[in-house]
Amino acid sequence: MKTIDLRSDTITQPTDEMIDAIAAAHKAGRFGDDVIGEDEVVHELQDKTARILGKEKALLVTSGTQGNVISLLAQTCRGEEVVVENQSHTFLFEAGSMASLGGLFPKPVEGIRGYISPTTLEKAISVDDAHYAKTSMVVVENTHNYAGGTITRPEQVQALAQVAHEHGLKVHCDGARLFNAAVGLGIKAKKLVEHVDSVQICCSKGLSAPVGSMIAGTEDFIHEAHRVRKRLGGGMRQAGIIAAPMIIALEKMVDRLIEDHDNAKLLYKRLVEIEGLVLDEPDTNIIFIDLRNFDIDTQKLSAELEKRGVLVYGGYGTRTRFVLNRMVDSKDVQYVADSVVEILGGS
Ligand SMILES: Cc1ncc(COP(=O)(O)O)c(C=O)c1O
Repeated sequence: MKTIDLRSDTITQPTDEMIDAIAAAHKAGRFGDDVIGEDEVVHELQDKTARILGKEKALLVTSGTQGNVISLLAQTCRGEEVVVENQSHTFLFEAGSMASLGGLFPKPVEGIRGYISPTTLEKAISVDDAHYAKTSMVVVENTHNYAGGTITRPEQVQALAQVAHEHGLKVHCDGARLFNAAVGLGIKAKKLVEHVDSVQICCSKGLSAPVGSMIAGTEDFIHEAHRVRKRLGGGMRQAGIIAAPMIIALEKMVDRLIEDHDNAKLLYKRLVEIEGLVLDEPDTNIIFIDLRNFDIDTQKLSAELEKRGVLVYGGYGTRTRFVLNRMVDSKDVQYVADSVVEILGGS
């Protein structure tokens, strides 16, 4: 039985072209010690990323989590607070890194489909009084994972950034799936980060690279981020070995994300027919279904799907997540939909 893995887009395997790119760079003698700035492939990747994102400079980091915490630590001081959406990855799923590593105080606020409105932000900013922590940053997650791969549009980012900047706050974009947002809107990724001070993108999610994220911003920001990366043990030696597949990810894997979005829509069209099932139409490649009207719980649904060769994450209260990715085609999606119908129809 074939396994259809919808737990995450992080399960995507590298393409043959990515593996060939590593071998080609090795043969051409392009790898060097990146801690002392001597890896040509890393330089190429950093320059390319900065261009794609419309920022002065970019820096290779090991993961999305590391990229986010470096971005926060490089632009804040201990004891300051950071406004985060209350279901955001930086708040919920990064092991409290901003607090434990940066002495930062996360201030969670409620978003609308993951978006922090300018009014919500304005209310969350502490008054300048010695009793309060200074609010110094806000994080935008785009797309927003927990809200269901939702897109924050460029004009929404701009409106939020305007309020943030008026109050002296920095704006960081957790763009682990920024290219899903760009492809979903049919625009360039740089449009989505024009007004933010720093951005983190993941190449190891739907873009299928085996490892690696990038952060980007001004030259000054990257200069400081470089130091923080070193402090966190993120300096790597022949890092071109991970940069080579990341270059392929940025050059060749962005446009195909639309296939994952189309498959998500296909799955939605089938699942929305199930009476009592609560779900939103997907903006991109993530769908959550809510089992609140069913006797079956998410653990049981996951276990039943697993018996049929389908893997999903069921650990979100009454919600189960399906993440469409390159390893899954439209035939697989029909099979997944048939399986859910069969299980829920009998519950
Ligand atoms: C929105 C978002 N931000 C950040 C991350 C962290 O990325 P990584 O797993 O590479 O640390 C993830 C991972 O799933 C994510 O979904």
